Amino acid sequence: MMHAIKITDKIYWVGALDWNLRDFHGYSTNHGTTYNAYLILDKKTVLIDTVKAPFYEEMLARIKSIIDPKKIDIIISNHAEMDHSGSLPRAIKDFEPEKVYASTLGVQNLKAQLGQDLPVEAVANGSTLEIGEDSLTFLESRMLHWPDSMVCLLNKANVLFSNDIFGMHYCSTARFEKDANREDWIYEFHKYYANIVMPYSKVVSAFLKTVAQKGIAPKTICPDHGLIWQESIKDIVEMYHDFALPKNKKKVVLVYDTMWGSTQKMAAAVVDGLVQAGVEVEQFSLHSEHRSDVVAEVLNSAGVIFGTPVMNLEIFPSLADTMTYLKGLKKEGLVGAAFGSYGWAPSAIDNLEKMMKDMKIEIVAPNVKCQFVPTEQKLKECFELGLAVGKKVLEITK
Ligand code: FEO
Repeated sequence: MMHAIKITDKIYWVGALDWNLRDFHGYSTNHGTTYNAYLILDKKTVLIDTVKAPFYEEMLARIKSIIDPKKIDIIISNHAEMDHSGSLPRAIKDFEPEKVYASTLGVQNLKAQLGQDLPVEAVANGSTLEIGEDSLTFLESRMLHWPDSMVCLLNKANVLFSNDIFGMHYCSTARFEKDANREDWIYEFHKYYANIVMPYSKVVSAFLKTVAQKGIAPKTICPDHGLIWQESIKDIVEMYHDFALPKNKKKVVLVYDTMWGSTQKMAAAVVDGLVQAGVEVEQFSLHSEHRSDVVAEVLNSAGVIFGTPVMNLEIFPSLADTMTYLKGLKKEGLVGAAFGSYGWAPSAIDNLEKMMKDMKIEIVAPNVKCQFVPTEQKLKECFELGLAVGKKVLEITK
């Protein structure tokens, strides 16, 4: 038996807990995740979003703990991504709602994914649906983080159903932020932004402005992942403002991998230079660290340095992986440099630097290439590389 969790007399959480998820399309989820769905009991009974398909039974049980699911009149699908829409076809079949609503692009994306005969209708941006004593107003949130995304506001209750916005991959027995470990959720909240929302930071700023202009100041925010926000709303909105327009810290993220220890020795010398320059350093060996944790640290960093061993004339696979991932997340304003070790041919280290330029990272020190094992001279060059990047970071973060 799974129970719904009461938010107000008329609003219940009926989602699912995915304690064991450790990979969300390439993002490491060390605290698992939740797929949040919400039930509103008014003259009309409304289900906001569903859950990832394998978790349908859990959502169903939670709904059944308070009502007969056949009483659901309306389903709102705020976002077509499968972690929220995966159960929609079964829900429609089993609950037989009068109406299923999504944004205009949501209708297109849901039909494209789930079948053109899916009985879903579009609601206009800014329109309001009366559901009894209360009403729902729909607000498109395009590119936060899909073109079809929208949020909806339950007006009298002043509850915002924010979809992926203000979400995070965090599973716990707590449903409300006041009951969860603040240190844990703050990390997962910023990691989610870095890995999912960062490329759309300009859209975030515009969205927050629109929400403020409309006078929307919800007393509860119900996202589709993680915790329900009540006491920390001011904090998370401020965090979103800061994430979207980051005041980059005097910090450099150094990312490397190593085959026989040479690139690791070079990395240590680079770090020494950075420390001497007086900047904060976060170092990641891709032997043991995950790309999504790298990205979480890059979010508010001013510099990034990559170091690779050369393998079969190419950049080491773990570096290529992380850089491709980071490139897609479009972090702006970074400075940096490259280094690496090789056996026969060093061209991959130039390719690494070129890849950084393609990522719009300003290269502020010549790359350092070392054949086989670094000499004292090479380690000195690595130190100088770190020092140069560190000094540039201090200059641009004044
Ligand atoms: Fe949580 Fe974009 O789906």
